[in-house]
Amino acid sequence: MTHLPNSIQARDIASVVHPQTNLARHLEQGPMVIGRGEGIYVYDDSGSRFLDAAAGLWCASLGYANERLARVAYEQMRRLGYYHFYRHTTNEPGVELAEALLRIAPVPMSKVLFQCSGSEANDTAIKLVWYYHAAIGKPEKRKIIGRRMAYHGSTAASISASGKPDMHADFGLPFPGFLHTEYPHYYRHHRGGETEEQFATRMAAALDALIIAEGPETCGAFIAEPVMGAGGGLTPPRSYWEKMQAVVRRHDMLFIADEVICGFGRTGNMWGSQTYDLAPDMISCAKALSAGMQPISALLVNERVFQAMLDESRKLGNFAHGFTYAGHPVTAAVALETLRIYDEMDMLGHVGEVGPYMQHLLARFAAHPMVGEVRGVGLLCGMELVADKASRTPFQPAGQVGATVDRHARRHGLITRFIGDRIAFSPPLIITKTELDDMAARLARALDDSWSEIRGG
Ligand SMILES: Cc1ncc(COP(=O)(O)O)c(C=O)c1O
Repeated sequence: MTHLPNSIQARDIASVVHPQTNLARHLEQGPMVIGRGEGIYVYDDSGSRFLDAAAGLWCASLGYANERLARVAYEQMRRLGYYHFYRHTTNEPGVELAEALLRIAPVPMSKVLFQCSGSEANDTAIKLVWYYHAAIGKPEKRKIIGRRMAYHGSTAASISASGKPDMHADFGLPFPGFLHTEYPHYYRHHRGGETEEQFATRMAAALDALIIAEGPETCGAFIAEPVMGAGGGLTPPRSYWEKMQAVVRRHDMLFIADEVICGFGRTGNMWGSQTYDLAPDMISCAKALSAGMQPISALLVNERVFQAMLDESRKLGNFAHGFTYAGHPVTAAVALETLRIYDEMDMLGHVGEVGPYMQHLLARFAAHPMVGEVRGVGLLCGMELVADKASRTPFQPAGQVGATVDRHARRHGLITRFIGDRIAFSPPLIITKTELDDMAARLARALDDSWSEIRGG
């Protein structure tokens, strides 16, 4: 595709490297330019409107333009546009946000550490696992266990904890000491006649076997998302979390709940940990914390972890960890205002109403000849496309049909998240029932057009 020499597309091709992008294809086709947003819709540079059923990257909970958050950022920049949290220094928005997070935490939490991204929050959590076990005299208890297909971020440690082979390839990752257990994709991996409960028992037994094979005295923590996002929008099978947590507890490991996607209403409760009755030692969160409008993440640690940090800090004279933008007053002020907006709009009440409606609309697509599974919770749903519904046979090669549906969806003004041949739906939390009807209508057209193309081809 040729672009005018001075167009934003041509300038982008000449100057930018994009994340999670085929770089060679990008040089040929260039980018889609998003010019502006309004509510749950974004507009490209030609003025075409797209309903964003992915909320960007699961984060634009309040949509794409917000006067109130803009004013808060503006006022905070006028008052104090930057200061750091290092060496006993603080600022009011940072403290207020920490207090607010501790107030709404799903289980008692002691302190909050701030970063700019989900990756950094999980990196911090991983470092604290090592620090914690050093403090309690078990420095060899360092191994981090994640799950295949999980995603915890792109920094060297958080991607090592993730179970995405494509993101490890040729980076020489994961680092030694990062292990991955089975992931709970019941639809794809259950054996004939196996119930969800039996499948969950098998998943927990696999985790137990891995820990025993590695040596429980070397296994420091288990990290997991309550609902797997980038792994395909996978909600856990019944009894999964109860059984997995029992294994983690039995081996005296720390449990890190990665709430980067699930936190702040996505699953219908404030936290995924509440939806699935999790009792983590650390919670990482980001994304909807600031409605995606500022780069901020938080790591909540419980008293057990904090006491160990305190001991180490006493011993070493310093807690030698931190980021320049931790506790940034502007990001904190915007996040605080976001939490206030959630409260005032009764965000949880709203998700409680529109979430089941979305699940009902999407469940109807299970009758479509290409759709094998539709399963979700709150305003998060995963849909798997299959070549044969009866045998659950995937399309070959994997991902090609997903790309076809994506192309047709965009033609019909719909953005969703394609993960191979799974479609994840996670619209902004402000979406209305009428907008969900619009989403379903666009999806129906995209699936029908794709089906015609595939059969024709
Ligand atoms: C569950 C989960 N954890 C962590 C991350 C990484 O967050 P970030 O991209 O802000 O570093 C993501 C990003 O999508 C995520 O989905």
